Amino acid sequence: MSSYDVIIIGSGPGGYVCAIRCAQLGLKTAVVEGRETLGGTCLNVGCIPSKALLHASHQLHEAEHNFAKMGLKAAAPKVDWEQMLTYKNEVIDGNTKGIEFLFKKNKVDWLKGWGSIPEAGKVKVGDEVHDAKHIIIASGSEPSSLPGIEIDEKTVVTSTGALELPKIPKSMVVIGAGVIGLELGSVYKRLGTDVTVVEFLDVITPGMDSEVQKVFQRLLKKQGLNFVMGAAVQGVKSTKTKNTVTYKLRKDDSEHTIDAEVVLVATGRRPFTTGLGLDALGIEMTERGQIKTDSHYATSVKGIYAIGDAIEGPMLAHKAEDEGMAIAELLAGQAGHVNYDVIPGVIYTHPEVASVGKTEDQLKDEGRAYKVGKFNFMGNGRAKAVHAGDGFVKILADKETDRVLGAHIIGPAAGDLIHEICVGMEFGAAAEDIARTCHAHPTFSEAVREAALACGDGPIHS
Ligand code: FAD
Ligand code: NAI
Repeated sequence: MSSYDVIIIGSGPGGYVCAIRCAQLGLKTAVVEGRETLGGTCLNVGCIPSKALLHASHQLHEAEHNFAKMGLKAAAPKVDWEQMLTYKNEVIDGNTKGIEFLFKKNKVDWLKGWGSIPEAGKVKVGDEVHDAKHIIIASGSEPSSLPGIEIDEKTVVTSTGALELPKIPKSMVVIGAGVIGLELGSVYKRLGTDVTVVEFLDVITPGMDSEVQKVFQRLLKKQGLNFVMGAAVQGVKSTKTKNTVTYKLRKDDSEHTIDAEVVLVATGRRPFTTGLGLDALGIEMTERGQIKTDSHYATSVKGIYAIGDAIEGPMLAHKAEDEGMAIAELLAGQAGHVNYDVIPGVIYTHPEVASVGKTEDQLKDEGRAYKVGKFNFMGNGRAKAVHAGDGFVKILADKETDRVLGAHIIGPAAGDLIHEICVGMEFGAAAEDIARTCHAHPTFSEAVREAALACGDGPIHS
């Protein structure tokens, strides 16, 4: 048994970042993690492995579709799926070991096993009970499914199974046109699978700027992804040879079926709090099973805090990380803070999609006077040079003050470009501030500047 200033339960991006920051600020810190490796969903079965497979499959797409255009004639590469999974696992390994190294470097103890909280100030791991002045729950989330669907993680899978399929399936039905469905759907489409995405709503990626949604879906269709929209999935029946997905079209209630070798259920995630003993502690929860916290991440029980996917807000690794930093700083007597108005969201398909701040639909709903500055990547020299002219940058600014309220990008390197806007928004930038900043030529980022110019007297290259 040991005594700590802080014990964190969970080593995902929320927990591990929080632990390192606590240690840097002089707090004696331990992290409880039940998995074999550190890093949580993100490093083991989420962000990192999915990006490895997106990268590898994108290289294949480039070789098959774009190399010849540039005068690179080679036989189309053969896919060695086993090696691709090995590559993905090596990427996971490198990242999770990296966290182990950082823990050692910062003198953060890893308490191996599943933790519970018998009472405030105490964390139980196996047979040992440790004392902690502060306990932070960073237990993350797990995939949620639908009634009528039995997940076996072999042919009816969540994202976890989809990252580890024994072979590339001939056909796949993806239930849900959200982030996971479209990223992993893209991976398998590029690898040759016939992919059909079945979505409850009439639009993909709910909550995203509607103009981006339309262009995004058009580009994905062009890549060969099939969509069934406005379809409520009723269930999946499995036999030895196939899975049959039944859905009802919302417009006329008609029932349809579609067969596939593999079904990927990507209908959202829910907080994972099983086994922590929260009921017995009397910790207040939301109706959606999230741990209720105040603006300083305190739960309803003194000395116990929560961050990341287990609490309210977007289920994103960087949101969890920032909350981890903020609570560490608060516990160390500093002014930790997260600006929830400036949390970017990125979808790592090709092209990438990125957004921050308000969408046009939100501004309309709020009755706010705004202006739109838009620039198509077709007018960007660098994008043209690398055959990446699809998409646009759209900046939304206050009509009176010119202050940037949001930005939506679909196109090359969107996930990196968005941060120029994020930094601007943190500093309360006007679109003119971005427009007057010198941007190197030829870069994709010139499209951001042109969109900012479009909020004023107009872009140069369109
Ligand atoms: P988690 O990462 O879920 O970590 C929680 C950890 O706590 C787990 O390791 C768990 O084992 C451990 N734990 C739970 N209970 C206990 C207990 N009682 N005792 C001990 N240990 C416990 N987000 C992005 O921002 N970008 C992306 O590109 C992205 N891609 C994703 C792709 C996929 C396929 C998935 C599934 C998710 C993706 N996400 C992405 C979401 C991202 O993974 C999560 O938002 C993030 O991991 C949340 O971090 P967390 O620290 O709150 O929890
Ligand atoms: P999601 O919430 O993004 O999308 C779920 C989709 O399923 C929605 O479009 C919804 O309308 C649809 N749906 C729900 N019920 C349905 C039904 N019965 N029939 C048909 N469609 C149905 O959830 P997803 O994609 O599972 O991702 C979970 C979380 O992981 C997200 O919150 C996301 O933030 C995070 N994530 C982030 C990534 C990133 O930042 N690049 C990548 C992957 C995941």
